[in-house]
Amino acid sequence: MDAISVIRAKRDGSRLTDAQIDWIIDAYTRGEVADEQMSALAMAIFLNGMDRAEIARWTAAMIASGERMDFSSLPRPTADKHSTGGVGDKITLPLAPLVAACGAAVPQLSGRGLGHTGGTLDKLEAIPGWRARLSNEDMLAVLGDVGSVICAAGEGLAPADKKLYALRDVTGTVESIPLIASSIMSKKIAEGTGSLVLDVKVGSGAFMKDLDSARELAATMVGLGTDHGVRTTALLTDMSTPLGLTAGNALEVRESVEVLAGGGPADVVELTLALAREMLDAAGLPDADPAKALADGTAMDHWRRMIAAQGGDPDAPLPTAREHHVVTATADGVLTRLDAYAVGLAAWRLGAGRARKEDPVQAGAGVELHAKPGDHVTAGQPLLTLHTDTPSAFAYALEALDDAVAYAPRTTEFTPAPIVLDRIARA
Ligand code: URA
Repeated sequence: MDAISVIRAKRDGSRLTDAQIDWIIDAYTRGEVADEQMSALAMAIFLNGMDRAEIARWTAAMIASGERMDFSSLPRPTADKHSTGGVGDKITLPLAPLVAACGAAVPQLSGRGLGHTGGTLDKLEAIPGWRARLSNEDMLAVLGDVGSVICAAGEGLAPADKKLYALRDVTGTVESIPLIASSIMSKKIAEGTGSLVLDVKVGSGAFMKDLDSARELAATMVGLGTDHGVRTTALLTDMSTPLGLTAGNALEVRESVEVLAGGGPADVVELTLALAREMLDAAGLPDADPAKALADGTAMDHWRRMIAAQGGDPDAPLPTAREHHVVTATADGVLTRLDAYAVGLAAWRLGAGRARKEDPVQAGAGVELHAKPGDHVTAGQPLLTLHTDTPSAFAYALEALDDAVAYAPRTTEFTPAPIVLDRIARA
């Protein structure tokens, strides 16, 4: 077997055999296949696709490249959630302790942000003292004690995906359904969760810009999970505008705590509860009541214990940015668009995100929204507040927001997109 014949086969539109897939993933993980060869293969897959059987084998090979975790010693059923990534998507923060408060164990292995979407670990690191890195033993201990844990995936979990994802990120090969589905599902299946709910984002701030491709991605991932014995469902959710009223690390932690305290923006509460119900159903706990756990403070208790178990101080003030700039509405009317991608890019340029994975992020940087699509606004009223420690970033962030906003006359009937657009489960 050699890399060139595998690359040529996919370049010329053939399907890869099981033996070719097993060999290339294993040889790439061991460093025998070079990054430039894997880049060429990733581009051939990006352009020519893979069929369901190839995707299943590719996923299995990536799972086999590393260790598999085992939560069978826990007395509670396990449930996990994965989002394909969006702007202002802080849902994991209130969701994990909420689902734990309702009786499931939530092993949430999360990532960092790259590009315009934020990362859960970067957000939680805004909390003084909080640590993302836990050994497998510590992770199991927090899970057993508190019921939920949010931490970085260990080096041993799907190492083939770690290498391949970093390569795709710099070779323009991220937005491919076979590569996204196998990347996400190899990590989730290796993690060992019993059930999984996928939040597949659709819209300008997501990888999938339209409903049809989001449905195809969701159905592919639901199929992969189910075939590996993980009870998997997916919600397709709107990402045409940011979730909630904040995009940026500490800003999003603050908003998540508001949700756990029984308040917070309506869309964040609605999506948190919809995903919680899916997770509890999939975990075999359909009678649990997440709305009650939010309202009566039990979810907040779990949050505080979860943060403290990882060295964080849930009472410490969150960092804030040194400089602010207010963007005002330029017209009277109803806001019909506040573009998710533009806001994500602005937050990233203000310092909330990173360009290379070793770059630091600013905890206090980001964008705060004062209105959402569907709201009536008056010219001159504050629409956004930009936060950063580096005021030279304002001009660059404002450029990202150039075409972000649209208005219609006040008399226009305008209904914003619903948060949950569709649900996909294996028939
Ligand atoms: N998230 C992942 O883990 N992998 C992808 O390919 C895309 C998003």
